[in-house]
Amino acid sequence: MGNPISLPSILMVGVGGCLPARLVSNDELAKTVDTSDEWIQQRTGIKQRYLVEDERTSDLAVGAARQALKHAGLSADDIDIIVLATTTPNDTFPSTASVVQKDLGAFNAFAFDIQAVCAGFVYALGVAESLLKTGQGKRALVIGAESFSKLLDWDDRTTCVLFGDGAGAVILEAGAPVDDWGVLSSVLHTDGRYRDILYVDGGPSETGTVGHVRMKGPDVFKHAVEKLSSALDEALTKADKTPDEIDWLVPHQANLRIINGMQKKLGLDPQKVVRTVSEHANTSAASIPLALNTAVRDGRIQSGHVLAFEAIGGGLSWGASIVRFGRPS
Ligand code: ACO
Repeated sequence: MGNPISLPSILMVGVGGCLPARLVSNDELAKTVDTSDEWIQQRTGIKQRYLVEDERTSDLAVGAARQALKHAGLSADDIDIIVLATTTPNDTFPSTASVVQKDLGAFNAFAFDIQAVCAGFVYALGVAESLLKTGQGKRALVIGAESFSKLLDWDDRTTCVLFGDGAGAVILEAGAPVDDWGVLSSVLHTDGRYRDILYVDGGPSETGTVGHVRMKGPDVFKHAVEKLSSALDEALTKADKTPDEIDWLVPHQANLRIINGMQKKLGLDPQKVVRTVSEHANTSAASIPLALNTAVRDGRIQSGHVLAFEAIGGGLSWGASIVRFGRPS
């Protein structure tokens, strides 16, 4: 079932991205971590990542949001809702979304954070879509922003080489109902029983510390392709679409092998997949909107294209969505 005709269409009308200034290549990392460019590229496809120095998560989010507003031809006053997905907030509270609201001057908006780790963007998109569909506002700013490097144990080579920092943002707008435009479906899942394969060993009520990422990489890998492809099948069915109707798969950017596994499972043309993991590494909640922004800026993704998003991360939490991008002309 597509978008029921009586509800507004939730259009995706603007995109932005922001990366920290400091670029760190695999070779540079290999000076302080027992690893090599060859190992990292072979196992993950990652060549480099951007890491924060003085930038806070909110600074990256504001950079991405400003670009998305400009792209949509809107100002901060036009935003009614800010949903920010992050695992690395500036502070435990207030929400990083409220800092972004202040820094943008978006004082008409209510703002809150969502925590679904690497699946954060698809969760934020699903929540914002529901709020707009039920009339809680006309426009939402949906951001994925991370300073994920703050959670890394730089003595653990099995995790620290995989991640990077950054932010991406989209603007959603509730428009008159137009069949087959905007967010066409959204599918979200969680299974808390898999906590021990991917978690952070800290937190206010457990240890009183921030903690570090701990991961059983091969176990996560096994779940990733299976759960992502079943979520994407579900999202396609809900949107009344088939894989050959996807113009662009914009997947979570964790590992090139997972991305290529998904592409093969779907039977998609490899040219229809946006891959930015080699340049950005895994930026958790920021990875999908950063990849989307890259492909919109370089002209690959255009208004009217059907996009498929999918992501999985700690929880385990995962999900997928299908969107016809842009505004109907
Ligand atoms: N540099 C060099 N050698 C390393 C490194 C490193 N950075 N890390 C591990 N190794 C070694 C290991 O010690 C091991 O050596 P051994 O055989 O002598 O014991 C060897 O490489 C193989 O280790 P594996 O963990 O089996 O390697 P694998 O091929 O599974 O790749 C990886 C590991 C890249 C983590 C992979 O399992 C993976 O991508 N998993 C998905 C996890 C993921 O992407 N998580 C991100 C968060 S969740 C998400 O976003 C999906």
